[in-house]
Amino acid sequence: MAQIQWYPGHMQKAKREISDKLKVIDIVIELVDARAPYSSKNPMLNDIIQNKPRLIVLTKKDMADDLVTKQWLDYYQQHHYYAMSVNLKNFNEYQMIIDQCRFILKDKMAKEQSRGIKPRAIRAMVLGIPNVGKSTFINKLASRKATVTGNKPGVTKSQQIIRVAKDFELFDTPGVLWPKFEDERIAKNIALIGSIKQDILPLDDLFIYAMKYLSEYYPQLLQNRYQLSIDLEDENWLINTFDHIAKLRRIKPIRGETDYDRVMQLFFSEINNGIIGSLSWEDPTCVKE
Ligand code: G4P
Repeated sequence: MAQIQWYPGHMQKAKREISDKLKVIDIVIELVDARAPYSSKNPMLNDIIQNKPRLIVLTKKDMADDLVTKQWLDYYQQHHYYAMSVNLKNFNEYQMIIDQCRFILKDKMAKEQSRGIKPRAIRAMVLGIPNVGKSTFINKLASRKATVTGNKPGVTKSQQIIRVAKDFELFDTPGVLWPKFEDERIAKNIALIGSIKQDILPLDDLFIYAMKYLSEYYPQLLQNRYQLSIDLEDENWLINTFDHIAKLRRIKPIRGETDYDRVMQLFFSEINNGIIGSLSWEDPTCVKE
C-alpha cells in the first residue's frame, strides 16, 4: 500500500510531471475510491488536466455500498462527467474501461481521420491519489497483453508506453496525486480507505468517527461482524464498544485493562480489507460545489 507524505515541493513536482505527459495523451483515466469518491479526488485535478477528456473510474466497487455508488454515478452524469464503477480484481471489467475511453474519443478520432491523419492508437494516462488501484490497473493490463513500444516523441526515457490493444496505449507509470486535506472529515475518510497512514491522525478520534458513522448508517454491519449495537445516547458507549470487541475477539488485557490499541488495529484492518462488509463513507450530498 503506497504511503506518501505530501509537501508543497512534492505537489509542484507531481503537477509538473503530469502536465508534461498530458501533452502527449488523449485521455485521463482518473481513479477514485468508490467508498469515498469526493475525499479521494485530488483537489487540483481540474486545474491540472484542464479540458483534457477524462473518464472517472470508481474503483473497489465490491467494497462500496451499491446504492451509494449508483448515487455517485447519477451525480457525475448530471454534472456531465463520464464515470463508471469497477472492481479491479475482476479482469473482465478492464475491457469496459477501454471501451468507454474509445467511446469518449470517437468523435475526436473520426475528425482526425476525416482530416487525412492516419488512424492511430488512443493514448491514456492513469491518475489518482495513493491506494486507489493505479498499479493494479496498469500491472494487470501490462502483464497480460502489452508490447512495450519504447520511447516515443514527447515521452521521456524513463517512461514507457504499453500497448494494451491495437488501438490503445497507456503510460506504464501512473500520475500519483496528493490527497485533499481540506477538512477533518475528508482526512478521516482517506485514512479509512487507506490512502494516508491512519496513524497520522489521532487513532481514537478516527475510531470514534468510524463507529459513530457505522452505527448511524450501517448498524447491521456492526451487528453481523461484532454482534455490536451502539447506543450513542449512552455515555459509556465507547468504553463498552472497546470492551465488547476485546472480549469477542479474545484480545488479552494489559494489566487488567482492555488493550485499546489492539482493538483499534483489528477494527481498522477489517475496515481496510472490507471484511466488515460493503460500505461507503460519503454520498454526493457531501460535495462542496
Ligand atoms: P495505487 O497504485 O493507486 O497506490 O493502488 P494499488 O494498485 O497498489 O492498490 C491498492 C490496494 O487496493 C491493493 O491491495 C489492490 O489489490 C487493492 N485494489 C485495487 N483495486 C481494487 C478493487 O477494485 N477491489 C478490491 N477489492 N481491491 C482493489 P493490497 O492489499 O495493497 O495488495 P494485494 O491485495 O493486491 O496484495
